[in-house]
Amino acid sequence: MSNFDVFKKNSLLFAPMEGITDEPYRLAMLKTFPEWDQFFTDFLRVPTVGKINEKLVHEHYGLRIHANPEWRKKNSFQILTTPRAQTLAVVEILEDMKMHHLDLNLGCPSKKVNSHLGGAYLLSDHKALREVLKTIRDNFTGHFTVKMRIGYRDDKTFSETLKLIEGEGVEAITLHARTRDQLYKGVADWSYITEAVKQVQVPLIGNGDIWIVEDIEKIFNETKCHSVMFGRSALKTPWLAKLYKEYIEEDAHIDETFLLIERKNYLDQYFDALYREYKEVGWEDNLILKRFKSFSRNLFDDYEDFETIRGRFLRSESLAEFQDHLAALK
Ligand SMILES: Cc1cc2nc3c(=O)[nH]c(=O)nc-3n(C[C@H](O)[C@H](O)[C@H](O)COP(=O)(O)O)c2cc1C
Repeated sequence: MSNFDVFKKNSLLFAPMEGITDEPYRLAMLKTFPEWDQFFTDFLRVPTVGKINEKLVHEHYGLRIHANPEWRKKNSFQILTTPRAQTLAVVEILEDMKMHHLDLNLGCPSKKVNSHLGGAYLLSDHKALREVLKTIRDNFTGHFTVKMRIGYRDDKTFSETLKLIEGEGVEAITLHARTRDQLYKGVADWSYITEAVKQVQVPLIGNGDIWIVEDIEKIFNETKCHSVMFGRSALKTPWLAKLYKEYIEEDAHIDETFLLIERKNYLDQYFDALYREYKEVGWEDNLILKRFKSFSRNLFDDYEDFETIRGRFLRSESLAEFQDHLAALK
């Protein structure tokens, strides 16, 4: 097996997230918090009709990332497709780009996506799922992985789905331990991750509600999963991988007071890096402000008066005002 980072044991993966993990965001993160082992594009929806726009596929990945071998290594491509969509055409473009890692989205719960037989829907239609997996595996020479939920309506076909996926040559499986119908409700049930680890030979990447450093230790110990992936938690603590590696791998004690002092430093680094990357691609201040506000919804929870603080950021009328609030934050 390759030494590609997705297969490096105990990797910490930054999840694909629509509206967030575009090229500037991924660049900001990999430069500022390089402790994250791998990043993903959000899903590229494979079109059903019309000529595939090759440029769009390249841009979805990021032209600058593609041109830099070091950055490329840490950035994977995710697609979302359906049995009727032009999967082959997109896979051929990715082959031409020498994409080293393609991940298939089998978890998206969106009604629209599912009604077109894409995302998590495929977990409930094994004939269609097999067809899609074959099209990709037969035509893609890079690493091929999937990101799935435990089922569509329920968990009845969980084991069967895992076997099918492994049988079609998928090299690693990320499991968000909820069904599609659970959306984001409740807490992800890691016992399905434990089960999946026992049932398949390929690396199993655990995902869902891994919020703090202690959770990372817990999920590794409890489930024996190969690696872990972070979605909302990476938005809440974009420096979480750094904390884990500094404090846990070096066998150090987590000093809560130090963390509280450092969080402002990390927040500054986060917003500074994002600002630089968005400016680099010519974004106007208003667009940057919109993004910054949406990131604010996931931040500041660990401040005592977090509602007041978040409110200030969300009500900012200009990017300068947002940055003033950040400068005033302790
Ligand atoms: C805003 C947002 C966008 C997402 N977009 C994608 C996506 O494009 N592809 C994907 O596979 N999952 C997507 N997800 C799901 C996450 O990758 C992850 O599986 C899920 O949030 C569970 O992990 P968490 O509990 O750490 O958030 C998205 C989640 C969020 C919150």
